[in-house]
Amino acid sequence: MTGGSSEQIRENIYLIGFMGCGKSTVAFRLKKDHGMHLVEMDSQIEREAGMPISQIFAERGEMCFRDMETELLRQLAGRKDMVVSCGGGAAMREENVQLMKKSGRVVLLTASPETILERVSRSSHRPLLEGKKNVRDIAALMEQRRPAYEAAADQVVSTDGKTPEQICSEILENI
Ligand code: S3P
Repeated sequence: MTGGSSEQIRENIYLIGFMGCGKSTVAFRLKKDHGMHLVEMDSQIEREAGMPISQIFAERGEMCFRDMETELLRQLAGRKDMVVSCGGGAAMREENVQLMKKSGRVVLLTASPETILERVSRSSHRPLLEGKKNVRDIAALMEQRRPAYEAAADQVVSTDGKTPEQICSEILENI
C-alpha cells in the first residue's frame, strides 16, 4: 500500500526505539495529519496507575511497570488503525514484540546519542536516565538494546536532522 491516506491505514503502527528518539512527536503527527487513533503507552499507564512513571518505578518496581506495558499491549492488539508510541523498553520483551507484530507494523525510530541527549536533557520523568544524561552512558544503553530493537523492527527510520513530517512520510511510504 502506498500514499498513506487515513482510509488506507488499517494496521496499527507501533513506534519503538530509545527514549528521546521522537516516538511521541511522530505519533502525534500521524494522528493529526493522517487521522490515526493515538495511544501513548507511558501516558496511558500513568493514567491507569494514577501516578507518574518515576513513582511506579520507585514504589512498585520496574517489573510491575513492565507487566503493565505487556497488559496494555494485550489490550491494544485487539484494536485497529492506531499509532502506538511505545515506551523505550517495551520492545525488550519478546511477548510484547509478538503482540505488536500480530496486530500491526513495528517501526524503529533511531537517533544518535548526541541527539538523544539534547532531547532528554531537560526531562525528569525517565528513571532509567537519572544520573546518566551523558553521551557515553546513553550510547552504552543504546548499544545494549540495539539487537532487540533491530530484531523487532519491520522498518527502521533515522530521525536525525529530519522534521516529524519527513519521518511520517517515510513511514507511510512503506505501509
Ligand atoms: C523507558 C522509556 C520511557 C518509559 C520508562 C522506561 C525505557 O519511555 O517507558 O521510563 O526503558 O526505555 P520513553 O521512551 O517514551 O521515554
